[in-house]
Amino acid sequence: MELELLYEGKAKKVYQSDTNVNHLILSYKNDATAFNGEKKAQFYGKGRLNNEISSLLFKALEDKGIQSHFIKRLDSSTQIVQKTDIIPLEVIIRNIATGSITKRLGIAEKTLFEPALAELFYKDDSLGDPLINDEHAMYLTGITMEELNGIKEEARKINQALMEIFASIGVRLVDFKLEFGRNRAGKILLSDEVSPDTCRLWDARTNEKLDKDVFRQGTGDLISVYEEILNRLEAKL
Ligand code: TMP
Repeated sequence: MELELLYEGKAKKVYQSDTNVNHLILSYKNDATAFNGEKKAQFYGKGRLNNEISSLLFKALEDKGIQSHFIKRLDSSTQIVQKTDIIPLEVIIRNIATGSITKRLGIAEKTLFEPALAELFYKDDSLGDPLINDEHAMYLTGITMEELNGIKEEARKINQALMEIFASIGVRLVDFKLEFGRNRAGKILLSDEVSPDTCRLWDARTNEKLDKDVFRQGTGDLISVYEEILNRLEAKL
């Protein structure tokens, strides 16, 4: 039986599970986009790599007490997740300055943020995902101040856990993007994906970029750096 396609994003397709109304099937695509979809390419194997990496990271987070929508990996490019309604916010955590913040605020590359900096962007392609403040976030998404504070606190816990995981494989977690959703019971849960598409990852020894920046900047081979991350995670987790 064909699964019902609920939504197609830039990197994943979202299907309704045919066995549980509260479950979704995420299918990771081989497409890569950057600059709000202006730059596009396909990389054979990317969907499998991100599905496997994201599955391992969600499991490792669960082992550290962090819940997410993840239930289990189904096959090479798909995973089963709890159905959540995505809150249209991109929660960015930055440990090291690079990317948009250096241009926007004139902060020198590689400045360390201690504590990490949290930023909110409004997830809306037609607006180019603008940076917003807490009041905008509450107004635009209907979440309460308490819920927003809870999301930021959770994002900082996730940062600690991911930093430990990546440090154990010789990788620095520079910054990353999280999305949260509300499940049927109303609980806010980490959703979407955690992968080299959504994190900046630098080799701890050489500072080599092991994430989507190689595609954004055209400086390296996306598949080989994603494979490097997966191989290191598989050897450790
Ligand atoms: P930025 O420096 O371009 O704002 O990116 C911050 C982090 O968020 C970086 O790890 C890449 C990630 N990111 C996404 O996952 N999706 C996006 O659309 C953008 C712009 C960034």
